[in-house]
Amino acid sequence: MSGQGMRWQVRVERPIAYEVIKAPHLLDPGNDALMAFGRPRGRRFVVVDGEVARHHGSALRDYFVQRQVDARIVVFPGGEEHKSIEIWQDILRELDAFPIHRRDEPVIAIGGGVLTDVVAFVAASYRRSVPHLKVPTTLMGYVDAALGIKAGINFNGNKNRLGSFEPPLAVLLDKSLLATLPRRHLLNGVCEIIKLAIIRDARLFESLERHGAASVAAHFANPAGDLILDGAIGGMLDELTPNLYEEELARKVDFGHTFSYGLETRHEQRLLHGEAVLLDILVSSVIAERRQLLGAADAARIFALVDALGIELDFSLLDGEIMWRSLLDRIEHRNGLQRVPLPAGIGHCVFINDITRTELDGALQALHARLKERHEPALER
Ligand SMILES: NC(=O)c1ccc[n+]([C@@H]2O[C@H](COP(=O)([O-])OP(=O)(O)OC[C@H]3O[C@@H](n4cnc5c(N)ncnc54)[C@H](O)[C@@H]3O)[C@@H](O)[C@H]2O)c1
Repeated sequence: MSGQGMRWQVRVERPIAYEVIKAPHLLDPGNDALMAFGRPRGRRFVVVDGEVARHHGSALRDYFVQRQVDARIVVFPGGEEHKSIEIWQDILRELDAFPIHRRDEPVIAIGGGVLTDVVAFVAASYRRSVPHLKVPTTLMGYVDAALGIKAGINFNGNKNRLGSFEPPLAVLLDKSLLATLPRRHLLNGVCEIIKLAIIRDARLFESLERHGAASVAAHFANPAGDLILDGAIGGMLDELTPNLYEEELARKVDFGHTFSYGLETRHEQRLLHGEAVLLDILVSSVIAERRQLLGAADAARIFALVDALGIELDFSLLDGEIMWRSLLDRIEHRNGLQRVPLPAGIGHCVFINDITRTELDGALQALHARLKERHEPALER
């Protein structure tokens, strides 16, 4: 019998398991959390965000000295412009100059979403994957970027165009690190919480209405802030866990991530990720209202919440052409269909595949008219 038609099948299932752990006082030398993964006395390659190093650098160095751990701490700047192939290579060179065991000396990433995305991609690519830990230090990282397994860098003028799925060993949460975060960056993270509340959690939305402003003022160090963060993290993980590798491309968490993609890429200097997402959320909410998926009262609540939280958005950056091209790119990303999540009442979501350019332009016009009405004194109307 000839070998023609023979086939071999390779089939492996690999379990993915990691924990997201609250670890207060993370940099206290008596706290084991940072060294609890990997060899306890092993070496550690630590990449820390420049702003975090400015505020906590000496505590971080002291932590490893006190525990007699040979740690190489390298500082890299945050900010979207640093989510680049150059920074990824620079970190890889530093890592290559400080050899670590391939399995039991994890890389530690301490920083915002930019740093954890880049370092996770370093971990994914170095020796075809070495373990890593993530410590988010921005609200964006705390409730979103650090929780999942997506790693990446921007490439060729496109966000996150190079990357991989790389599960961490664990995500360690120390809320006190958010204390030094500027207000604009706190609000940037709040935008992702608003997203989650609108498409899946009406109670979280109510908590934001009631306690959001006070929680932002307290850098979420208040009890209500704790509940908001717990709700956001739990909700995000509930969405991510069954679909870690994005086999299902209709994802509720993509609400606000259709038109924002192009706006954020075009205005990297002027728009933070969350701000671009919120602009998208508001346009998408108007589309949903015009389709009668979202009642007028619920749409009004969304706009009122943005005002109450004091989030300032530059609506002049909204641009139908950029947003339409962004939607076309998302169709490629979502394998041929728009799969745009839209709110169907607060706390619920549907997916839409037939938004037209005319509909988008109509929604933009309606949004601008609404903003004009809101900001003009009653007498002038
Ligand atoms: N992987 C994912 O699933 C995922 C999800 C959402 C967002 N993201 C990515 O996250 C990125 C945005 O993250 P980000 O908003 O955290 O940006 P960032 O990492 O650039 O941090 C924002 C700014 O805060 C500074 N900073 C960090 N921690 C600080 C602290 N504790 N105190 C004071 N300043 C501090 C940084 O230096 C930076 O200037 C985007 O690139 C986005 O694509 C990824």
